[in-house]
Amino acid sequence: MTRLAGKTALITGAARGIGLAFAKAYVAEGARVVIGDIDKNRAQIAAEEIGASARAVYMDVTDQSSIDAAVDGTIKAFGQVDILINNAAIFSAAPIAEITRADYVRIFDINVSGCLFTLQAVAKHMIARGIKGRIINLASQAGRRGEPLVAVYCASKAAVISLTQSAGLNLIEHGINVNAIAPGVVDGEHWDEVDAFFAKYEGKALGQKKREVGASVPFGRMATPDDLTGMALFLASDEAAYIVAQTYNVDGGNWMS
Ligand SMILES: NC(=O)c1ccc[n+]([C@@H]2O[C@H](COP(=O)([O-])OP(=O)(O)OC[C@H]3O[C@@H](n4cnc5c(N)ncnc54)[C@H](O)[C@@H]3O)[C@@H](O)[C@H]2O)c1
Repeated sequence: MTRLAGKTALITGAARGIGLAFAKAYVAEGARVVIGDIDKNRAQIAAEEIGASARAVYMDVTDQSSIDAAVDGTIKAFGQVDILINNAAIFSAAPIAEITRADYVRIFDINVSGCLFTLQAVAKHMIARGIKGRIINLASQAGRRGEPLVAVYCASKAAVISLTQSAGLNLIEHGINVNAIAPGVVDGEHWDEVDAFFAKYEGKALGQKKREVGASVPFGRMATPDDLTGMALFLASDEAAYIVAQTYNVDGGNWMS
């Protein structure tokens, strides 16, 4: 399959989980991918598993010099950046009374500043080279409404939806489409961590919250990362050229907007 033949994608946080599924799906459609992750070892293992069309770069999205080095590394490896997926993020949960300033700063640094300044670095490169690129941000159903124990993460994902709108409206004059995907509940190591937070704050057994959220999805189960690859491929493809500043729910029916 060759929907992305000749394209190069930089995917942040792609050493595991959803980003890794995107990397594999993109390569299967003919793209070359750079896995940018703070976990250099896992990024390297993932790139080797995918093969010659993938590279790993160390990347900390909270550090501007690291963002710039990852963009430069992608250009050196494969010539240019046609697609950016802003996927790196972290989760935490706490009741309002227990939220710490340090946790707030860290989540916003990775989930919001990391998204904006990686987007900016790649957009500057695309504008300078006249690349009609695609930028896809990972939002969340958590960005659609607040949750009692998840104030900071929810706020960070609402900010991603808003940034997607502003950046999408600003960059389309350069032919760069910015859109976002809002997943619901996606099984994997991320949700194991989420489950542990709910075990702590809701007194549930480990694994119980996961079973509950899976059963409550209208589709009947949690997503797997592969459930999201269709939208990520579509938004990067020529078919999505007229789609600007949107956030698409891919969540089995959890949220409607
Ligand atoms: N899993 C879900 O249920 C779910 C639901 C909605 C949205 N999302 C979003 O989808 C995206 C991917 O989620 P996932 O489940 O694959 O998460 P994950 O925790 O499995 O993977 C996140 C990756 O980001 C990397 N990372 C963390 N901090 C980084 C930093 N400072 N710089 C670079 N990389 C960093 C981690 O090393 C990890 O490889 C995230 O934006 C997440 O918020 C996930």
